[in-house]
Amino acid sequence: MLRWCGRCPQCSGWNTVVSAIEEDPPGGKPGGAGRLWRGGEPCVTERIASAEYASPIPLADVEAGQARPRSTGLGELDRVLSGGFVPGSVTLVGGEPGIGKSTLLLQALHAASTSGATSLLVSAEESAEQVRLRASRIGPLPRGLLVLAGNDAAAAAAAIAEERPSVAVVDSVQAVADPASPGTPGSVAQVRACADLLVRVAKSHGIPVVLVGHVTKDGALAGPRVLEHLVDTVLSVEGDRHHALRLVRALKHRFGPTGEIGLFQMGDAGLTEVADPYLYLLGDRQSGSPGSVIFPAIEGQRPLLVEVQALAALSSSSQPRRLTQGVDPARLALLVAVLERRASVDLRGMDVFTSTVGGIRLNEPAADLAVALALGSASKGVAVRDDTVAFGEVGLGGEVRQVPHAHRRLAEASRLGFRRALVPAAVDRAPAGISLVRVGTLAHAMSLARAGSLAG
Ligand SMILES: Nc1ncnc2c1ncn2[C@@H]1O[C@H](COP(=O)(O)OP(=O)(O)OP(=O)(O)O)[C@@H](O)[C@H]1O
Ligand SMILES: [Mg+2]
Repeated sequence: MLRWCGRCPQCSGWNTVVSAIEEDPPGGKPGGAGRLWRGGEPCVTERIASAEYASPIPLADVEAGQARPRSTGLGELDRVLSGGFVPGSVTLVGGEPGIGKSTLLLQALHAASTSGATSLLVSAEESAEQVRLRASRIGPLPRGLLVLAGNDAAAAAAAIAEERPSVAVVDSVQAVADPASPGTPGSVAQVRACADLLVRVAKSHGIPVVLVGHVTKDGALAGPRVLEHLVDTVLSVEGDRHHALRLVRALKHRFGPTGEIGLFQMGDAGLTEVADPYLYLLGDRQSGSPGSVIFPAIEGQRPLLVEVQALAALSSSSQPRRLTQGVDPARLALLVAVLERRASVDLRGMDVFTSTVGGIRLNEPAADLAVALALGSASKGVAVRDDTVAFGEVGLGGEVRQVPHAHRRLAEASRLGFRRALVPAAVDRAPAGISLVRVGTLAHAMSLARAGSLAG
């Protein structure tokens, strides 16, 4: 019989009984008299009293050596991971289908075993032959690069424990299954159980383990959210599949700052580190076209100039579309509303499109002014001069707010030959060669654009 129980009849403690689902004890009938807790487990007070005493030690006495990152052999990946994979850590790598997750990790394993160490790929999505074919484009294969094709997570954990590789990759966590757990591969229970097994083997043997994870249609990591809590690091591989540029970004990192990005290009030999991202980002820019504004972004420690494009076209539908690539849809909706209400830009009845060149995703509010200006410029058909950059956060009142790293953004723009910057009013100085146009409100910025003074 179920009833509330405030006081434990055994230890007389108050609020020490926990409610739990009762399971059939082996050979016994559930729910017998006096059975208030799971399978006869003692209550919290008793459990604490009988627990083995574990002695805490001074933090200063703990050896930090084990937790130092080891280079992956790929400089741009090391940059994102603040040095490399940490022994015993678990990293989840997500990204859209075909973006290059398997390629990137195979290259990291290849780099690890080229220096004489062992590395292990557990391939649950592709056969060993398929992996071999893919690997041949990287170069000669070292003996230390091991592959285990199969989808048994327990067997994978056992292989990691046995081989003790310098790094192990499981591709993917949705494709492996734990035979002892219910559900089909990829189900919440299975993904959780498999991740649990692999986290445990990583921690107990001090081996860095990398899990490849699928993403849903809107770009979020698929599977239970708990997966992100279980792991130490979450990386995402981003980019436009039809272009060569790939970004690797840390969304969560227990061993260093997040936000740092690594830049690669996809080519015949797999992913190579990008020496000049601007070849991709600004190389094909059309001069003098309305709706194009350059935003100096800050990705981790790295400034990166990104072209924001916008287009506004008369809609044939009663519900005009608001489509965006690389700009947060909620942010776009807000900027459209602010443009209409605060800057007299009429976008009613117009389909609105915004995108960023090179598949770069803009996460900073600092991009607001550039996005809004691109939209305003597109709807009015007036171009913003090619050598102009813009940054600043836009508030609901239409005010342009100060953002961090103004001087680093301006320095990068100046280095690449830009000569003018639309900035929040509080920006005090500019590097040589750049003239500042301080704007207090979006309406001010738009009036400059309308008057043609941003075009010339
Ligand atoms: N042997 C090869 N030669 C040339 N290009 C290749 C080769 N193998 C893969 N690619 C290219 O690399 C891209 C990335 O492939 P990869 O398998 O690494 O992506 P993925 O993120 O692991 O995808 P999935 O989620 O489907 O597993 C592919 O879309 C393909 O264009
Ligand atoms: Mg893959």
